[in-house]
Amino acid sequence: MTWTMYQLSKHPDVLAKAREEIESVLGNQLYPQATNLSQLKYIEAILQESLRIFPPVALIDREAIIDHEIHDNQNDTKIFISKGTTVLIPIMVIHRLDKLGWTNPETFDPTRFLNPEEKLYRHPYSYLPFSIGTRNCIGQNFAMEESKIMLSMILQRFNFELVPGQNIVPDLKIALRPKNGLYMYISQR
Ligand code: HEM
Repeated sequence: MTWTMYQLSKHPDVLAKAREEIESVLGNQLYPQATNLSQLKYIEAILQESLRIFPPVALIDREAIIDHEIHDNQNDTKIFISKGTTVLIPIMVIHRLDKLGWTNPETFDPTRFLNPEEKLYRHPYSYLPFSIGTRNCIGQNFAMEESKIMLSMILQRFNFELVPGQNIVPDLKIALRPKNGLYMYISQR
């Protein structure tokens, strides 16, 4: 939520569109209902894009329990991973590789998650904020719904702007946090 609000404070055009969607889906309703959640498509795309640029779990590892040989078709090379080796999966790097199909990967652009065709150009494992496979995040759907509720209620009620002069640096301490904190001026709308 911190990184999402940071991105929104840097992209007023995205923030304005998000508020338009909240206005049209919720109107004067103060609390989103279950039926509203699937209607908050732009809010969902904002959260997905924020999880791409600053994935809270930015690095995971796996230990090989048997020997593996992986064939890299593109480069016609083989990679050997012997039993007991720890393999690091740098999720934050994977999320920013143009060779996996991310165009302008450094740009915060939620619309990339609104166009189903764009997904076809990306590698199937190019987006891993919740990991993938048998040990992926069991809370991912809950986390997305919870974040949608939280973000739409915050945007409905508050204005926020970054306190100027901060040195905002991502720091990987299990979760990806702002090293020096991230401060905002908050006021009621
Ligand atoms: C934005 C929020 C969240 C993110 C980005 C996230 C991400 C992840 C990732 C990447 C993993 C795989 C870790 C690894 O393989 O080393 C994971 C595992 C897990 N997550 Fe989440 N998670 C989130 C929220 C939640 C919530 C809300 C819950 C519970 C309600 C949850 C429960 C779990 C559990 C139990 C595992 C371990 C699953 C297993 O090993 O079989 N997570 N999460």
